[in-house]
Amino acid sequence: MLVRIAELADAAALLDLVREVENGTDWLLHEVEELGMDVTAMTRRMAQFLARGNCTVIVAEEHDARLAGYLFALGGHLAGLAHAVRINGLGVAPRARRRGVGLGLLRRLEAWAGEHGMRRLELKLMAPNEAAHALYLRAGFADEGLERSAYRVGERFVDALIMGKVLP
Ligand SMILES: CC(C)(COP(=O)(O)OP(=O)(O)OC[C@H]1O[C@@H](n2cnc3c(N)ncnc32)[C@H](O)[C@@H]1OP(=O)(O)O)[C@@H](O)C(=O)NCCC(=O)NCCS
Repeated sequence: MLVRIAELADAAALLDLVREVENGTDWLLHEVEELGMDVTAMTRRMAQFLARGNCTVIVAEEHDARLAGYLFALGGHLAGLAHAVRINGLGVAPRARRRGVGLGLLRRLEAWAGEHGMRRLELKLMAPNEAAHALYLRAGFADEGLERSAYRVGERFVDALIMGKVLP
């Protein structure tokens, strides 16, 4: 598995993968479907992320060149927040799970963050998302807080967990 910074040419495959991951779980917002995202919109989104020094998009590519995982990371806009990177989407194709892809994406992010002088990684996840919570704990993130009823999932309101990792 090759874990690398995404290129704009990945947009179509990335869109398909994000759609597959979002449609396969209740514990993600269904952005692609709700926003009616197409390849043009995904290309524009990737270009915005890749143009800024403190944002990135990382993908995991299988030996047959299919994308198996993705991670969007967004640094703060203002000087006082530019050192903190928010994970703004992370997913692994169902066929590739429990093979270390999620951990590989987070390790690549951490290496990228170190190279770019970032100090902190952070994210929010739906509290019932046990797989993601276990993954982030395994990657060295700590629980930092809770937002009650932050998300609506069908008829249910679920809490958000806030997690963070301060880099050495
Ligand atoms: C959460 C997700 C990204 C994990 O990806 P993955 O590639 O399967 O994770 P990894 O194989 O790197 O797992 C690393 C560790 O995380 C933990 N973990 C991962 N999935 C788990 C699960 N379903 N149950 C319990 N622990 C899990 C384990 O500690 C695992 O190590 P192990 O396999 O040696 O026990 C994947 O399940 C996914 O895409 N889910 C849907 C999208 C999502 O929830 N994204 C996160 C949004 S915040």
